[in-house]
Amino acid sequence: MPKVRIELCRDGSHTLYSETRGSYYHNPNGAVEESLYIYFERPGIIEALKENKPVSVMEIGFGTGLNLLLLANLAKKLESKSQISFTSVEAYPISPEEAGLLNYREFVVYPELFDEVLEIFPSLHSGADAITLKKIGSVNAQIHRCLFDDFDPGAHHHSPFTHVLHDPFDPEKNPELWTPAVFERLRLLSGDEAMLVTYGASTKARASMAVGGWLPARAPGALGKREMTVASLSEPKLNGLKRLNEIRLRDRWNAGEFKL
Ligand SMILES: C[S@@+](CC[C@H](N)C(=O)[O-])C[C@H]1O[C@@H](n2cnc3c(N)ncnc32)[C@H](O)[C@@H]1O
Repeated sequence: MPKVRIELCRDGSHTLYSETRGSYYHNPNGAVEESLYIYFERPGIIEALKENKPVSVMEIGFGTGLNLLLLANLAKKLESKSQISFTSVEAYPISPEEAGLLNYREFVVYPELFDEVLEIFPSLHSGADAITLKKIGSVNAQIHRCLFDDFDPGAHHHSPFTHVLHDPFDPEKNPELWTPAVFERLRLLSGDEAMLVTYGASTKARASMAVGGWLPARAPGALGKREMTVASLSEPKLNGLKRLNEIRLRDRWNAGEFKL
């Protein structure tokens, strides 16, 4: 189990600090605010929910379960008729007791959804490589308790992912989740118009995405951060964003300019 302590962010919401990784789970300026902006507003999930389009989310790093809670809360608030699935992978789940101390109930319109998310944590601790299936509001959630390398979505039916929330620790602390192989795997699991979003904005991370077959673009960052990255498999989906030169990024990666 990871050694974590609860910290208060500037927006009043909690985050965790991992003593094991020496890293925060969220931007200490605002866990809830940052997550809403980076993972829901930027990739167009809010828009898709409003338009009742299917939303099939893949998240890397379930952590506190905040993104699942925010998705279920948004869907309910918007009275969305979307078909919604949420798949996440977590190798080192926090304990049910730690999850129960988080103050996310105060940040959603439907606090009962947080209680439903909390019910997931005990099952993440029962047995190796377990998959927890649970309906949270209108969201069909499946949480895979395993390393991303061992993640096997085939075990349960899923439609190609429409939105990838890439939310590991930063590349220095969690390099195994920023490799071209990870981004390539995510691409192969995603639909043609998929959007991938991450708070990461380093050239190295973007080059890794480009080698994995994504088209990366810059977007303004959340809460005092200059930039974040939005990537897609479809050029039109990146309209209005500042595209990066994926060919040049790939060449630089292949020339050995970036080390993981
Ligand atoms: C930044 S935190 C995720 C924050 C989370 N999305 C939230 O809102 O609370 C990164 C998460 O990735 C998990 N993780 C790190 N390496 C992993 C790996 N190789 N496979 C699966 N999960 C991993 C960590 O245990 C941690 O929970």
